[in-house]
Amino acid sequence: MEVVIRPDALSAARLAARLVADALRAKPRLVLGLATGRTMERVYAELARLHTDEGLDFSLCRTFNLDEYVGLSPTDPHSYRAYMNAHLFDRVNIDKRNTHVPNGMAADLPAECHAYEAAIKGCGGIDLQLLGIGSDGHIGFNEPLSALRSRTREIALAPSTLAQNAALFGGDTGRVPRRALTMGVGTIIEASRILMLVTGESKAAVLAKAVEGPITSMISASALQFHAQCRVIVDEEAAQLLEGKDHYRWIFANEPEWVPYQGA
Ligand code: GLP
Repeated sequence: MEVVIRPDALSAARLAARLVADALRAKPRLVLGLATGRTMERVYAELARLHTDEGLDFSLCRTFNLDEYVGLSPTDPHSYRAYMNAHLFDRVNIDKRNTHVPNGMAADLPAECHAYEAAIKGCGGIDLQLLGIGSDGHIGFNEPLSALRSRTREIALAPSTLAQNAALFGGDTGRVPRRALTMGVGTIIEASRILMLVTGESKAAVLAKAVEGPITSMISASALQFHAQCRVIVDEEAAQLLEGKDHYRWIFANEPEWVPYQGA
């Protein structure tokens, strides 16, 4: 795992977007795993800008989102499908037929989850997976005690997640769907490369647990410590409780792979 600390949330998001853009330029048929949440909005805004200003080409890219609420139709403005359309898909030249979000309205949810896993495998697996983190340490919607080998499945959301995501439902926790479909922790860590973005003071404690604490199913993101190619981009606010800050800064300043990004 590598941790990169940027001065603020905007420069962290821009670096994440640049890493995605470089992966897409290197492999136009990239299979990209996508995440939702407020943290990702700046990443998608930057990717849309790179498309408009620099011609970043999404025409051959395939995408798989991490999760979706159960019971929300794709046209519901609160659905993650609607989020992705608004923040990215409608702003770049991606072929929507190549974009996948679990269908939370499927009549047979276990079959939907099975088909989602098969679709990922059918594309040859995910090349690069973008991740945020929930305040309880979830990645996707893998709430505490999700098995580290879990696969795409239906899950009950934790009260802390309902509270965290209520802002996107007019501040009313009661309006947040109680269940979701999510890629499993096992599904996520099969991606060839992982890029997690964490910003803001409110994520500092859970980030420290995920990156520097023990690997535990109580903090799903701690499973990323198993991954051979995982980068975690954070801002100073989120980094404030990390014990290894100086070491992470030294790596970013000295490793050749980061030289092209140091001014980003
Ligand atoms: C939701 C998503 C997660 C995301 C999290 C963080 O719970 N299922 O994938 O990481 O939100 O959201 P935010 O970026 O708004 O803090």
